[in-house]
Amino acid sequence: MNLPRKISKFTVAATALIVIVFVGMLPAGKKESKTQLSTGERFHHETTLTWRGVLGDVFGTKPKKPPQYKTYPGSEKVKLPKPEYRGMILEEAIEQRRSVRNYSKKPITTLQLSQLLFAAQGITGKIYGQPLRAAPSAGALYPFEIYMVANNVQDLPRGIYHYSLRDHALELVKAGDFRRKITDAGLEQEMLGDAAVTFVLSAIFDRLRCKYGERGFRYAYIEAGHISQNICLQSVSLGLGSVCVGAFLDEKVNQLIEVDGRKEAAIYLHPVGAL
Ligand SMILES: Cc1cc2nc3c(=O)[nH]c(=O)nc-3n(C[C@H](O)[C@H](O)[C@H](O)COP(=O)(O)O)c2cc1C
Repeated sequence: MNLPRKISKFTVAATALIVIVFVGMLPAGKKESKTQLSTGERFHHETTLTWRGVLGDVFGTKPKKPPQYKTYPGSEKVKLPKPEYRGMILEEAIEQRRSVRNYSKKPITTLQLSQLLFAAQGITGKIYGQPLRAAPSAGALYPFEIYMVANNVQDLPRGIYHYSLRDHALELVKAGDFRRKITDAGLEQEMLGDAAVTFVLSAIFDRLRCKYGERGFRYAYIEAGHISQNICLQSVSLGLGSVCVGAFLDEKVNQLIEVDGRKEAAIYLHPVGAL
């Protein structure tokens, strides 16, 4: 190629490289008009994986990885019994699973609660020394924390608890009767207050974003489904009723479990009760 003497081949190559990197760094959706897309479409579009996006991600900044375990130092701890229950075969549980919204006034036992929490996020194995959990997680990064509004559990005072999965125990976040508050936060869906417990699945997004960037948000929603299905099937096997609940006032639920709604937010509710 005949280039003017002052522009070397090196300059051309360096400029080309900078352009490629810059284009690569642009999120996939940036070059199309955003005004034509709804919020949901934009979310899906801008978190769509493309090679350009993958390249951009290599150079893009990502948040630091937050701690893997959330703890409540100084809180009252309640050790749960070993999750040793063995129930029906999987195929029966799948066949029998149905959304149940009416529960009896019978309490559930701490053994049943133990089994439900273990099915949700219990430690079931290890790889290279790293604990693995009952539900799959992208990159084994485990963004979820499980909270629980305890309404009617034998030998457990009412309150909001956090599941400390490393020692299979509950940490008391706040004591009290939160039946009205969780029902109010759940758009008056009465099963939330009638249930023996209502689980709140809450995601710490940066645990995924630190590796997957904005696509990590998608993974959080997908993972909520995995955890929830485990709770559904475990409920059936324990002879309990449950339903997954996506319709709730985010801010009110976040306030109830004392998370900021940005770095950590409630994604899914899950009441479980005796039949
Ligand atoms: C993402 C999602 C959100 C849901 N949200 C609610 C809800 O807010 N309230 C409710 O009563 N049921 C909710 N459900 C349960 C569905 O209504 C139920 O699964 C559906 O009617 C099929 O019935 P089945 O679960 O008995 O098979 C939700 C289910 C899913 C998957």
